[in-house]
Amino acid sequence: MNAVDLIVAKRDGGELSDQEINWFISGVTAGRIPPEQAAALLMAIVWRGLSDRELATWTAAMIHSGRRLDLSALDRPTVDKHSTGGVGDKVSLVLCPLVAACGAAVPQLSGRGLGHSGGTLDKMEAITGWRAEVGFDRFLEQLGQVGAVIAAAGDDLAPADRVLYALRDVTGTVASVPLIASSIMSKKIAEGTAGLVLDVKFGSGAFLPDPADGEILARTMVGLGQAHGVETVALLTAMDQPLGWAAGNALEVAEAVDALAGGGPADLVEVTLALAREMVAMAHLDADPATVLASGRAMDTWRAMVGAQGGDPDAPLPVAREVDQWRAPADGYVNRIDALAVGTAAWRLGAGRARKEDPVSPVAGVRLLRTAGDHVTAGTPLAELHTDNPDLLPAAHEALADALTLTPTPPPSQPLIRTRIAEG
Ligand code: URA
Repeated sequence: MNAVDLIVAKRDGGELSDQEINWFISGVTAGRIPPEQAAALLMAIVWRGLSDRELATWTAAMIHSGRRLDLSALDRPTVDKHSTGGVGDKVSLVLCPLVAACGAAVPQLSGRGLGHSGGTLDKMEAITGWRAEVGFDRFLEQLGQVGAVIAAAGDDLAPADRVLYALRDVTGTVASVPLIASSIMSKKIAEGTAGLVLDVKFGSGAFLPDPADGEILARTMVGLGQAHGVETVALLTAMDQPLGWAAGNALEVAEAVDALAGGGPADLVEVTLALAREMVAMAHLDADPATVLASGRAMDTWRAMVGAQGGDPDAPLPVAREVDQWRAPADGYVNRIDALAVGTAAWRLGAGRARKEDPVSPVAGVRLLRTAGDHVTAGTPLAELHTDNPDLLPAAHEALADALTLTPTPPPSQPLIRTRIAEG
């Protein structure tokens, strides 16, 4: 077979055969297909899409590029959550221990952030001593004992996605329903969870801003999960504004700990509880997540989960050397603070990476002081910009230049959770 034939066929709107797809995915995993040819095929898929049959074969090939974990030895029901990526999205940090405290095992294998979207592992690594790498035996043991693990996916879990995702990130080929769906679902199916709840984001901070695209993505992922025997449900949630007040690693951990302690921002708690209820129902557990959160048991599980991976839950979180302020340019009601702009500002302050191998700063980020509906006057501080490197502040301010929409009257409140999707 020849990669050019596949590229030309897809470029011209043709369908790839199962043999061609299997050949391509195994060639990418083994490094036999050069990046320029793989990237050209990815771009053709962005434009032409994949048929249902092609997507099923593509996803199955990605799962089979590595190992599918077997969690059947656990005596707790397994259920996990995945978000398609947003700004200030620290839900996993609260949800994973919360659902474990309700009685499930939550095998949360996560990734690092890329671009404006933060990664769960980068956030957790702001905690002194915490390690993302956990071997499979230790992973199983912690799942059985604590019920919650947030850890790095091993190299043998859907390795085809590792290659393709890194290429997509630098070739403008992330925003595609079949590519996002196969990327996420291949990893989650290979992880071995029996149930999966998806938080599919729409809005400016999401990879697919249009809610209609978000809904198609959600249905596509639900269908793929069900086809592979993983019970899957999706909630479509708004990501036009950051979730909570903070975007940036240590700042987000602090906010998640506030939520575990019974406080935290209302939107974060609302999304977390909605996802938790879905997970608890899927696992057939008789527990009310709101009661468990209020009881402090989710906090106990958080402490056990952090401690099991070398972290010190009592250690103070690192803080930035410089804190600057972003101020309102005029009077009015805050109609909106744009999620993508805040994510980009946090990223430019050092919270995210431009290339996969770049380090991230645990202290960098944006902490909002005002939100939609608040009245401000010219000069009112809207947010703190945290960084260790003051040279990065001008670029962060530039990212925020058009982030604020002010109106003479307060905006109507928008529902955070748009739809529940249980069928592909
Ligand atoms: N997250 C993933 O894991 N893959 C994508 O393609 C997008 C978000």
